[in-house]
Parts: sequence; structure tokens; C-alpha cells
Amino acid sequence: MTTVELRQKYLDFFKNQGHAILPSASLFPENDPSTLFTGSGMQPMVPYLLGERHPAGDRLVDSQKCFRSQDIEEVGDNRHTTFFEMLGNWSLGSYFKEKQIPWMFQFLTKELGLDPSRLFVTVFRGNDTLAIPRDTESVALWKEAFAGVGITANDKDFSERDGIVEGDRIFYYDEKKNWWSRSGVPDKMPIGEPGGPDTEMFWDFGAEKKFHEQSPFAKEVCHVNCDCGRFMEIGNNVFMEYRKTENGFEKLVQRNVDFGGGLERMLAATENTPDVFLTDAFLPIIRFIEEKSGKKYSGDDATTRAFRIIADHIRAATFLIGDPRGMGPSNVGQGYLIRRLLRRAIREGRRLGISGTFMVSVADIVITNFSDAYAELTTNATRIREEIGREEEKFGRTIEKGMKELEKMLVGGTVTGEQAFILFTTYGFPLELTEEVLAEHGHHVDREAFTAEFKKHQELSRSASAGAFKGGLADHSAETTRLHTATHLLHRALRTVLGDHVWQKGSNITAERLRFDFSHTQKMTPEEIAAVEKMVNDAIVDDLPMQCMEMTVEEAKASGALGFFEDKYAQIVGNIKVYMAGDDERGFYSKEICGGPHVTHTGELGSFKIEKEEAVAAGIRRIKATVTGPGAR
Ligand code: ALA
Repeated sequence: MTTVELRQKYLDFFKNQGHAILPSASLFPENDPSTLFTGSGMQPMVPYLLGERHPAGDRLVDSQKCFRSQDIEEVGDNRHTTFFEMLGNWSLGSYFKEKQIPWMFQFLTKELGLDPSRLFVTVFRGNDTLAIPRDTESVALWKEAFAGVGITANDKDFSERDGIVEGDRIFYYDEKKNWWSRSGVPDKMPIGEPGGPDTEMFWDFGAEKKFHEQSPFAKEVCHVNCDCGRFMEIGNNVFMEYRKTENGFEKLVQRNVDFGGGLERMLAATENTPDVFLTDAFLPIIRFIEEKSGKKYSGDDATTRAFRIIADHIRAATFLIGDPRGMGPSNVGQGYLIRRLLRRAIREGRRLGISGTFMVSVADIVITNFSDAYAELTTNATRIREEIGREEEKFGRTIEKGMKELEKMLVGGTVTGEQAFILFTTYGFPLELTEEVLAEHGHHVDREAFTAEFKKHQELSRSASAGAFKGGLADHSAETTRLHTATHLLHRALRTVLGDHVWQKGSNITAERLRFDFSHTQKMTPEEIAAVEKMVNDAIVDDLPMQCMEMTVEEAKASGALGFFEDKYAQIVGNIKVYMAGDDERGFYSKEICGGPHVTHTGELGSFKIEKEEAVAAGIRRIKATVTGPGAR
């Protein structure tokens, strides 16, 4: 099946059930300053889910263009993409579970012809504290649907211990998995936001051995939500009937359905390939890159990763630039993300040994394959080609000039840390490329000298208002510097483990320990503490480079750097410093506005331990932690 066929089948199916077909909204949200991009089909629907009347009626269907910049580092595996199409259907107080579940079952098994014995579903297990009941209604409907094709579907609570046994088909999970709102779990939702329990559908690729045993994510027992690759979520039915208030949840004025399913993933299920890049949404691009590079797309190695990054990033950039509200690459805001997509694609192209330009040709493939559904790509084809071509040329020149300088430097044998720094600041030549070239000559960049140069440079240019930044450490000893870096890693780990409501509220560092205050209401459980410690220690073992970049406040914001406490930096003109642990390869593990100083590599921290976790004020917790220093891992 092709993308075009699947999309049309879905729209037609719901049209026949009385839904109005809507065009996709823009990738750049209108009247919504809280987010840079449209990341789900329901985003433009919020006012209508809350009760406003939609001009097209109370049954709607569409295929919405979505972009999730936060997933940029995930791209490279077989199913993550930054850009995707979300098939969506909505009931705005019209039908509810009793129609949505049978329809979905019919669509997947009859229209798409998916084998029902390979479909699994999850439902909400209920939460007494939130006063949201267990979703037994959905379970009854799923059972009936499966019974209709002769399958007895057993339901049970998911537990880490028990795997899936013969007959299991419906699993209850808590709100971490089976609750949906734009902001995530109930705790994270702002007052007034709509949300509700959901029931998700999974496709079983079946070859448990192949995916499970080789997966770095494999747990003792496989389950539908584990990330080993055996199962893939293909759709989510949200029963959006609640709204958050000061005192818990209340029912909305109407009961809504918000369904969202990734078009590329559904396509992958119909082809029974766990690799979305092998579906018709990407395959023509993959074949083109094979031809251009002379390399084969196969297996799960660095070459395959490069193919996927190029295919995803150029497709995304084409849609972003070609959007009716689209724009070209730049150094600020959304344009910065577009630049980042294109430059990453160029670098991966180099990695594959592609000589000459190739990105406009990839964009042309995207324009041809998607213009049926998205006419704006044809309308804006000239702009897309110009913007992408210009960026490729510009960055190509940067690389070329940098290469020439680098070669001159190499005449002296190798390149010093100071020289690598000059390449970076004067020629804009990425440090990673210097490292790549040096590696080919059997050398490596002296990161310490590079960072030392950076620090010297900062002392000299004393950027705008370094004094205003948090973390201006009074004492620059090795001990406090290590603990300072540990504070950044801890902040990042807490946000990952506990959620995005975690923000730094205070920090104090002595030579012996760090103290970190942050917003969070409950006491951390031993499991949460262990998970945070593990994340930080993993980052230490990975020995990530700590890099400092100077950029404008806007660029920092667009890049997702932490540190915007109470808009403290809003007034600042000129550059600020952003410290990053990690690099483009492994993903920026942590990114935070800060005055420094920091270690050059996280390995210098040795090992990290949380000594104490306690309350300091209402809604604020405090952690005291230590590091051992290098050599004591
Ligand atoms: N809005 C739901 C989601 O994005 C369907 O998963």
C-alpha cells in the first residue's frame, strides 16, 4: 500500500461515517505562543474540544502535518522521525467509545487488512486519587470486536514480572502510559487543559527473538510498551472528557474523541516491516541516496543511521520551508531548527561519502511524492529549492574553507587544541569535523587545550552580563567545577525521570557537595532516586564532552537550553553562554545557560551519588549529592 492510498482510505472511511474532511493546519501554530511547532493533530482543535462550535460540524477527520523538534536526537533508529503525518478523527460531543472502538477495529482489520491476531491494545487502569475510573467500557468493546473475528481477548493488569501469555490481548496500564493531554500525565497539566484516558493499539511484528534479544532496551520480559521493537504503537484513541481544575478533574461540557495515528507507522504495519524508512513514505529517498553514495541501506549500523537522518531531516525541512507559514533556515527561533536539520543532513551526507550537492534532489523527491495531499509543496517549490540549495552551498563553503585551513595546519604534523579553536570560532568549522579529519591521520583533538582556549577567550571578552548568570562560581577549584557540571547533569536527569515541571530553584556548591533545590511536590521514591543516579552515572561513563557556545537568548531558547527562570535573561542583548554536555552524535545530553566553569569531559566526575533528598518549602525539594572525582569509578 502507498502513503497516498492509506491516507485516502482513512479519510474516506470516516467521511462515510459522517465526518467532514479538513485540510492539515500549518506546522507553525497560530495564536499559540506556548509552542514553536504543531506536534499533534489535536493541537489546533483545543478550543473545540473545550466546547467552542467548529464550523465544519462535530465529526471531523484529517491528516495533520506534525513536527517534533524534541525527537531530533532520536532519529536514526527504525521508527523515530521528526516530521510525520498524524491521521486524526474527532468527535466533538457526538459519538464516544461505543463507536470509536468498533470503527477503529474495522478500519485496521478490514480496510487495511491487518491480521487481528497480531493486534494488541492497552487501556487505562484507573486512579482513585484522581477519581478517574478503570476503563472497563473500552475493554468490553474491544472484547466484542475481537470476538467478532473469533478471537478470545483476555484482559489483565500489566506487570513488569509477567510477560504476555497465550490469549492475553488487552493490558491495563496507569496514567504514565494510558492518559493523554498535550502536557502529558495529569500532574503536568496546567489548570484548564483538557485530557483523558486513552486506549492505544499496537502491531506485533512477531519475531520476538530477532527484535527482543538484540535490543538494548530489552527487559526480562517483553510487553507491548517496551521499546525492544517487537511491538509498535500504531494509534491512540483519547477519550477526552475531563478538564483540570484547582481541585482535581471535572467533566468537560461534552465527551470528545481525539484519535491520532502515525501514517508512516500504520503503513509499516501493513507492510509488516518494523522499519518505517522502508515504506513508500521514505523508500524513494533511500534509493536515491544509495545511488548517490554507492552505499547500501541495510542493517542497523552507522551507515543506515546516516541514511535515515538524511531522509527524515530533508523531508522535514521541505515541509517546514514549504508550509503556507513557512520560512527558511536562520539563526533564530524556528528557522534555527530548520538550519540544524539541513546542516545535520549535510554532515551525514559527507559521512556517506556523497560528493557534490544532493539535498535539492532529495527535496524534489519529497515534493513529487507528497504534493497530491499537500499542494503547498508545489506552490512553494521554488522557495524550497532555493533555501535548501543556498544553505547547502553556504555550509559547503564553510566546510571547504575550514578544510583548506585545516590542511595547512596539518603540514605541521597535527592540529593543536588552539588551532581547532581558531577553526571553530573564525571559520565556523565544526569541532566534530576537525576530529574526523584528524582521526583519519591517526591524531585526535586535544580537548583540554581546546577548552582552555575557550576559557581564555571568555575571560578576554567577558560576555555581556556573565555576572547575571547563575552558577558564577566563587571558587573555581577542581572540586567545585566537577560538582557544578554534576548539577547540570542532575537537573537534566530529574526532568527526564520526574517530568518537565522540575525547574531549578536554587543551587549551592561547596568543595564537598552540591545542593540543588527544585520544584516537585512529592518525596522522591527510592526507584526514582536510583533512576536519576543511574542517568547521571551513565552520562559520566559515556565521557561526554562539555562544550560552551555563545549565542543570542532567542537562539538559546530555540535550541531548548534550560535556564529561563522567571525570564531573567529576557532583557539581555548580545550573546550568552550555553553549556552542553554531549555532542551531535550522541545527542545533547544537557544544555543550559550558564557562566561556567565546567570540566571538559563528564568522565572527570568519577561517580555520582545522591546523599539526601528532603523538602525545603511547599512544592520544593532539595538534593544533596557528591562526586568522587576522576579515577574512582
Ligand atoms: N492526541 C493524541 C496523540 O497525539 C491522539 O497521541
